[in-house]
Amino acid sequence: MKYIAIITGASSGIGREFAMALDQSMDALDEIWIVARRKERLEELAEKLRHHAKIISGDLSNRNTVNRISAMLRADKCRVRFLINAAGYGILGEFAKGDRKEETGMCDLNVRALTDVTYACLPFMGKNSRIINLASSAAFVPQPSFSVYAATKSYVLSFSRSLNAELKDRNIYVTAVCPGPVKTEFFDVAEKLGTRTLSMKKWAMTTPDVVVKTALRDSFARKEISIPTTMMKLFYILTKTVPHHMIISFTDRLYR
Ligand SMILES: NC(=O)c1ccc[n+]([C@@H]2O[C@H](COP(=O)([O-])OP(=O)(O)OC[C@H]3O[C@@H](n4cnc5c(N)ncnc54)[C@H](OP(=O)(O)O)[C@@H]3O)[C@@H](O)[C@H]2O)c1
Repeated sequence: MKYIAIITGASSGIGREFAMALDQSMDALDEIWIVARRKERLEELAEKLRHHAKIISGDLSNRNTVNRISAMLRADKCRVRFLINAAGYGILGEFAKGDRKEETGMCDLNVRALTDVTYACLPFMGKNSRIINLASSAAFVPQPSFSVYAATKSYVLSFSRSLNAELKDRNIYVTAVCPGPVKTEFFDVAEKLGTRTLSMKKWAMTTPDVVVKTALRDSFARKEISIPTTMMKLFYILTKTVPHHMIISFTDRLYR
């Protein structure tokens, strides 16, 4: 039996940071499987890791990539100790003015692929396996000018929490990670249509290592939600106390 971690979106940002953190702290792992489209980035990461890394380069929006992962899990007789679903993207801007492929692509990657990878891995998980799903603070309330992205992350948050309950009897724990802005390549993609994020981004920004350290700590504490910074914890409380129509109309005005 081979004990492994699978990390999607490992070629940059938060996924890459997870790979480095598990590599340093989890000696019991036999291999770390790293998934993303940019093969050269994965090769560069694999060279840095102490563990043997299996590179799976492919587009997760394409079902064949997930089928490949399933086949590899079966062939290698694996036990998945960690599944980190970090692959994802967001595009800022009004939905109707956005590119159709990119708007629907967020659903394909952030929702469908995350669900499919999780489904493929579950038969290979057991007692004390962990699933860590990258949601976002955008999951807490609908966000005009980030409509599809925020909706996909609400799905991730909802799916993770109910799956955590379903899997408790198998001692498998699911944590949804809900950061605010994080300093990664995410914003190169998110702002590519020219829509700038709110200026709040600058002072709310955290780093991938803070997100990952908090997420791992919360996962081991069996928490279903991980919110890495005080500011986003306050935002979470705000979205539980202030009527959503007020927050939505405030955000909408900021972007216009
Ligand atoms: N940065 C933030 O402010 C922030 C805040 C809250 C939540 N998040 C979430 O955190 C996760 C990680 O984001 P990040 O900040 O680390 O952004 P990032 O640096 O842009 O990383 C995104 C990762 O997803 C991979 N990816 C994108 N499209 C893919 C596809 N079609 N198939 C396979 N892999 C794909 C990318 O690799 P390739 O391009 O090589 O495929 C990359 O490794 C995302 O789910 C994001 O929504 C980010």
